Amino acid sequence: MSTLNLPALRKMKQDKQPIVALTAYDYSFASLLDQAGVDIVLVGDSLGMVIQGHESTIPVTMDDMLYHTSIVSKGLQRSFLIMDLPFMSYATVERALDNATLALQNTGAKMVKLEGGIDQIPVVEALTHHDIPVCAHIGLKPQSYYKTGSYQVQGRSRKTANHMLDEAIALQHAGADILLVESVPHLLAEEIATNLDIPVIGIGAGSGCDGQILVLQDLLGITPGKVPSFAKNFMSESADIRGAISRYVDDVRQRKFPSAEHSFS
Ligand code: KIV
Repeated sequence: MSTLNLPALRKMKQDKQPIVALTAYDYSFASLLDQAGVDIVLVGDSLGMVIQGHESTIPVTMDDMLYHTSIVSKGLQRSFLIMDLPFMSYATVERALDNATLALQNTGAKMVKLEGGIDQIPVVEALTHHDIPVCAHIGLKPQSYYKTGSYQVQGRSRKTANHMLDEAIALQHAGADILLVESVPHLLAEEIATNLDIPVIGIGAGSGCDGQILVLQDLLGITPGKVPSFAKNFMSESADIRGAISRYVDDVRQRKFPSAEHSFS
């Protein structure tokens, strides 16, 4: 089995083959995801909520991310590994370069992910200038939770939708290699995916994206507290954890997930 790389992920988009992504935070689950054929494994800063029990992702530190990404990496043979840059770790170009270097040199991650649109263009350009692969994350940005006070669908008005499309194009132009779009109406996400050459991975963004991602705990139905309405518990239709992960992989590949029930209009 060969390791997936960025050109292979780009080719999947060109071939209209849906990309399957999931989060993981440890070695055991990373191995299961890899064996199930998950293409992208993200060590998300969602670990602050589902592993550490915080109310948001904001308390997560670089040390937390480096630790979890390095243990996830041990379980992967084929999947492409992305590490989230946590809150404030890319607040300046210098910090972003330093922290992305730590991620790529110490964890096995092949790409860093950061939240933000137009404001992050200088950071994306600087990382790209040094050949550091970047996944940009737009739409709902969980690291803004203390400002927004909620996790709401983004881009519902024509004005905000147009702005998000402009941001997506600008991020690709700045060098982003993958775009993650969270909690947006499905038609907007589809418009973004159609207008971009880079793979667009959606979460709560409908089936028109080039790929899908979920938080692993949501898929397994073990998230304590409130679960986003776009998430689906695949355990309810499966005998065991391996079955649930395989079902998710199959449903994304066949564009059965997300259905309208797990999308926003
Ligand atoms: O931190 C995370 O898990 C994320 C999700 C959108 C997948 O960014």
